[in-house]
Amino acid sequence: MKSTSWSILPITLLAAIAEGAHHVVTVGKGALKFNPENVAAAVGDTIEYQFFAKKHSVTQSSFDKPCQLLDGGFFSGFTPNESADVAAPTTFTITVKDTKPIWAYCSQTNGDHCQQGMVHSINAPSSGNTLDAFKELAKKASKPSQSPPDLLPKAGALEGVRKLNVEVGVNTELKFSPNNITELPGTIVSFKFNPRNHSVVQSSFDKPCQPLEAGGFSSGFIPTAVSPSGATFDITVPDDKPIWFYCAQTTGNHCQSGMVGSINAPSSGNTLEAFIAKAAATLGTPSTIPPDAPLKGTVTVNGTVIQSFNGAVLPPSDGTTGTGGGEVAIPSPGAAIPPQMENMAGGAQPANYNWPPNISDTTVGFLQLLQYIDDVLLHILWTGHSYLSPGGKWETIYPQSIVSTIGSMAAQSLVHRSTATDCLKHYNKELLGTCSYKLAFTTDDSDPKAKVDEFLSSAEKLLLLAIAVLTDAAAKVSTEVNGQWLVPALVSEVGAKGRMTAVVNMMQNRLAAAAPREVWIPAELAWSYITENFVQDCASGAKIETMPDRILPKVEIEDIKKTADGKRVTEIKVEWENKNGGASSPNWVAWIGPWGGLELTEIKAGGKVEVPKSLYGHVWIVVVNEKDVKLGGRYGEWKDVVVAGPEILWVSQP
Ligand SMILES: *[C@@H]1O[C@H](CO)[C@@H](O)[C@H](O)[C@H]1NC(C)=O
Ligand SMILES: *[C@@H]1O[C@H](CO)[C@@H](O)[C@H](O)[C@H]1NC(C)=O
Ligand SMILES: *[C@@H]1O[C@H](CO)[C@@H](O)[C@H](O)[C@H]1NC(C)=O
Ligand SMILES: *[C@@H]1O[C@H](CO)[C@@H](O)[C@H](O)[C@H]1NC(C)=O
Ligand SMILES: *[C@@H]1O[C@H](CO)[C@@H](O)[C@H](O)[C@H]1NC(C)=O
Repeated sequence: MKSTSWSILPITLLAAIAEGAHHVVTVGKGALKFNPENVAAAVGDTIEYQFFAKKHSVTQSSFDKPCQLLDGGFFSGFTPNESADVAAPTTFTITVKDTKPIWAYCSQTNGDHCQQGMVHSINAPSSGNTLDAFKELAKKASKPSQSPPDLLPKAGALEGVRKLNVEVGVNTELKFSPNNITELPGTIVSFKFNPRNHSVVQSSFDKPCQPLEAGGFSSGFIPTAVSPSGATFDITVPDDKPIWFYCAQTTGNHCQSGMVGSINAPSSGNTLEAFIAKAAATLGTPSTIPPDAPLKGTVTVNGTVIQSFNGAVLPPSDGTTGTGGGEVAIPSPGAAIPPQMENMAGGAQPANYNWPPNISDTTVGFLQLLQYIDDVLLHILWTGHSYLSPGGKWETIYPQSIVSTIGSMAAQSLVHRSTATDCLKHYNKELLGTCSYKLAFTTDDSDPKAKVDEFLSSAEKLLLLAIAVLTDAAAKVSTEVNGQWLVPALVSEVGAKGRMTAVVNMMQNRLAAAAPREVWIPAELAWSYITENFVQDCASGAKIETMPDRILPKVEIEDIKKTADGKRVTEIKVEWENKNGGASSPNWVAWIGPWGGLELTEIKAGGKVEVPKSLYGHVWIVVVNEKDVKLGGRYGEWKDVVVAGPEILWVSQP
């Protein structure tokens, strides 16, 4: 199509919908000061405090009572006395909930940090209750400064999180860094996975390298060749009792080689040194790991929580062959879905289809066509996702949350393709092979935003066609005694694909996201469009017996005329291959719109066609040489009358 222009929602706006900015504030770096002292933050922004030499805290107060804990306020807990110029591994992060000023101080009494002016604000006004005025009040505040009596971190209304990062196997060394952790109850210990194949499993002091008999944590094995992998395992320190953990990898005896650690180990008696020695003494007894993972903790890969898995959280490749961070090979049709993609999709294909004893050729044809469409969609979405992911050529275009959404759409297309192949396999019917596709957005890197635009518009067309075919399939298989079982799966897929279309519409800055756009197109027309526009070569793909033996010529849409306000298309000109060689004239354009809409208008001299006023949103056009066609009929009724098409046209905002 020549003249549609697609615009992308400004990145800043998407970022605001998706996630706030992240601010870093240093605490006690070089002086008794927060730096910056005041942060201008928007709702949804996060503020991370990093702690330096001497024991500091960040504690919330009111403006009127500096150095006094605000009722329901946050408290970071004190952090260890670390280096003057290297931040402590423990951080505290709050989330800004509104634009009202937030006041805070360091509650260290040894040296009266607050009264010395170690105070801080978020969104302090520039007149009246300013940061300077707050500092003046702090200087006169009564001593000592206040901390919660139990000295444990408090989340408060701003959801403060105290976190310690632990590197797992950094630089391929068999160790946790740090391994000798002293942390307050309530702190999140976040294990970050590095290359090799490690795990973090809780044990008792007495039995190193074996899981706790009940209730211990386990990350499961997280193999990766990528650094940083983006995979983390988070646990929360429950109390101040000692916690012992190890890596259960038997290849290389990680635990016995000292890849163990402790949280709050005593400094005498059962020390970490004693635990390391005990672990070394078990050499010869293989380490074990609980069969399920994760247990008592959360595995996250670049922001996506992984619910359950069995050892394949991350792509097995080192990512260098691909185009971006999210690269993983697309499984061939009929192969099992990798757990990572199943998690990205938010679930697997239906568990129970209630398969009847036999299946009709019509149903087989629809299943093969759905496999065909989902394979193209999967390749489009997965390729776009890998370009948009960290390391990909479009990595700066969207925030990670949007990239993850596209990844989950790709993974859902894989689940949908598996729905079709599972059913075909059940009835011993032929699966199609995968084809090579024309993905125009992958060529030429000169204008990434235009390419992202092209990617979105390809995905959108495929989604609309998939919905059209699902609708046609539902209408037809539901009339067969042994076809009705498929209807719930088809309807679920329409729901998923409708949501995906809404996301793509939103990214294209179209109002239409919530409008009805479920267009019903005879499956054969959709097949023709996809084969013509997206398939490069399908040598390995089996033929779909129920599909026509010819691809229809493409309709070119030209001279798009609009109303004065530019909001609605009123007239177009259509051209197609062999236009004047066709036998029977006159011709009509059949306009196939949302909700079963079908209109026919005559093609006038010069190929001009008026757009029916009742249409809105996306409309598909087909050139026919007879006026008497209807939707929902057998393709036989269309077969003899279609001349060219289909093609898509954006007619107006609804
Ligand atoms: C805290 O660190 C500073 C310098 O980093 C050092 O001079 C001081 O002795 C330390 N205090 C304690 C209690 O470890
Ligand atoms: C990771 O290690 C476990 C335990 O040795 C093993 O079962 C699994 O196959 C390994 N995964 C990879 C990808 O090497
Ligand atoms: C762990 O820390 C304690 C106290 O901070 C110290 O006594 C001990 O030597 C440390 N052990 C290791 C193995 O670093
Ligand atoms: C997560 O992001 C990091 C870089 O930020 C990248 O190296 C890694 O490959 C990503 N992981 C996945 C599974 O996409
Ligand atoms: C197909 O299954 C139905 C029962 O659902 C049965 O009545 C019919 O005879 C079967 N047809 C064939 C050809 O096996």
